[in-house]
Amino acid sequence: MENAIIKLNDVCFAYDKETTLRHIDLDIMEGETVVLKGPNGCGKTTLLKLLNGLLFPEQGKYYFSEREVTEKALNDNRFSKWMHQKMGFIFQNADVQLFCGSVYEEIAFGPVQMGLSDEEIKRRCEDVISLLGIEKLRDRAPYHLSGGEKRKVAFACILSMNPEVLVMDEPLAGLDQRSQEWLLKFLESFKAAKKTMVISTHDDYLSRKLADRIIYMNEEHEICKEEENKHEFI
Ligand SMILES: Nc1ncnc2c1ncn2[C@@H]1O[C@H](COP(=O)(O)OP(=O)(O)OP(=O)(O)O)[C@@H](O)[C@H]1O
Ligand SMILES: [Mg+2]
Repeated sequence: MENAIIKLNDVCFAYDKETTLRHIDLDIMEGETVVLKGPNGCGKTTLLKLLNGLLFPEQGKYYFSEREVTEKALNDNRFSKWMHQKMGFIFQNADVQLFCGSVYEEIAFGPVQMGLSDEEIKRRCEDVISLLGIEKLRDRAPYHLSGGEKRKVAFACILSMNPEVLVMDEPLAGLDQRSQEWLLKFLESFKAAKKTMVISTHDDYLSRKLADRIIYMNEEHEICKEEENKHEFI
């Protein structure tokens, strides 16, 4: 029997008084790719932020790898490090996650926080730089990169921590055709490596190509439909 790495039981959330997640029940299995769809404002980003521990359920419970995720738990440095090592989060807007002086420092930041040896940090940074083909960007300031370049650097930062779970908010948004194709191939290799992925997207091609399961949310902020994707369109 497979284990659910992510488990939401009757989760509700509101910003101020506006309900944004309504009684969400969701189990995501290890190695599964789940795509989240639904109209603007239905709560996809909110749900992904909750998975990443940036927001917390007001009602109901969230378990990651069988441990309950609460604000109190995440205030414990050890728990927070453990969770963020296992789960990487790609924001829709990469600006909010890049803050170092150079691309190399940015990529090294996670491994440094993890307390790895200098040698291991260097090895991981070089590996992801070559994996993503961003050798030319290594000494650039992240702030001055283009949107697509920033997205690649954001991926590099997450991958240098070798997470088991990758949560991505609209990863294709703002990328040109070539970068979209690159990203799709990249995500396919991640899937082949049996990583767990949770992806919000409005892109049907990405959903059909990658998802094992597609979850639909509606304007009532509920999960209203769920379908297995048979990969039969490709
Ligand atoms: N920080 C916030 N404070 C108050 N309301 C917010 C905040 N963030 C989002 N909301 C509201 O919560 C609702 C859900 O927003 P969310 O960003 O989760 O939607 P979404 O499904 O990701 O939409 P999109 O497809 O446009 O990305 C929206 O009505 C939005 O206005
Ligand atoms: Mg969103």
